[in-house]
Amino acid sequence: MYAEAALNRQELLDVLRHLNPETRAQLRALAHQKRLRMYGTKVYLRGLIEFSNICKQNCLYCGLRSANRSLERYRLTPEEITDCCREGYELGYRTFVLQSGEDDWYTADKLVRLVSGIKRRFPDTAVTLSIGERDDETYARLYAAGADRFLLRHETASPRLYRELHPTMSFENRRDRLHALQRIGYQVGAGFMVGLPGQTAEDLARDLLYLKRLDPDMVGIGPFLPHHATPLKDYPAGTLEATLDMIALTRLLLPAALIPATTAMGTAHPYGREMALKAGANVVMPNLSPLTVRPKYALYDNKICMGDESAQCRFCLERRITSVGLEVDMGRGDSLKSLSGA
Ligand code: 5AD
Ligand code: SF4
Repeated sequence: MYAEAALNRQELLDVLRHLNPETRAQLRALAHQKRLRMYGTKVYLRGLIEFSNICKQNCLYCGLRSANRSLERYRLTPEEITDCCREGYELGYRTFVLQSGEDDWYTADKLVRLVSGIKRRFPDTAVTLSIGERDDETYARLYAAGADRFLLRHETASPRLYRELHPTMSFENRRDRLHALQRIGYQVGAGFMVGLPGQTAEDLARDLLYLKRLDPDMVGIGPFLPHHATPLKDYPAGTLEATLDMIALTRLLLPAALIPATTAMGTAHPYGREMALKAGANVVMPNLSPLTVRPKYALYDNKICMGDESAQCRFCLERRITSVGLEVDMGRGDSLKSLSGA
């Protein structure tokens, strides 16, 4: 019933509009089968290091937005970040995701030194950057320094919604940055939020069609969750159900993609990540940041995993993964697309 890959906009809208408990269950089961055929029962673990919550942008949904003066800001030093990697390496991680707000203190030179230092110390690891928009030269220098992957969610494929939510950024530039990253050779992650205020079924269909065209290696999808110190504080959160629908459809449209069961899913529901893993997701990203900074990386309210040591996160997630009949893979976990050289 859900012929993979070939859906056009109207067909996708029809699918979205006709979802009911029965078709939802079918959709998730199909996505899970597809993931089993592509990646088997393996779930890849990535160690996430949230190294700076300083951000010059002002996205309406995000607790790190520059206008939020009530947030205590922090920035880890390159040495502290490298220490987190060492701890992660000893726990078995072979991918590190370095994530931050758009923090210009971390110049291209500093980032190049950081990335090349990590790759020199831990040569059998993959480094993923999630640091927002930079110019072509910076992206190229970081790739040359050894960064393998780059996460830059497109956030929403609706130009209208994008403009409303991003007063300091441009829809066109976002897309241009994603293309630049692909041109340079990174494994690229895009993605979006579900249940944003004002988001329609058409907007979500656009997100899926945009992803199909872009053909990224990774796709991060999570529900919008309100943060108390943002202009969107009084809007309802995106639902777990709608987010699971988008994860499942993404797996069917992009069978080879790496799709994380996001922290936002785990925040929306105690078993949100497990449900995502049964609906097409195949990655989890345990937190390796120092405990002292965790509460400060507050994108939204009630974020989970605030008080658990890195080792605890590692084993908590392992239990969750095996509880749904899947298994942990601590390897680099490159995307099938990148391995096939496509
Ligand atoms: N709710 C859900 N996701 C959010 N993000 C930022 N703020 C929120 C929020 N309030 C997501 C964005 C960003 C990623 C790091 O976190 O999609 O790209
Ligand atoms: Fe900054 Fe990213 Fe938050 Fe936007 S979503 S305010 S760019 S940290």
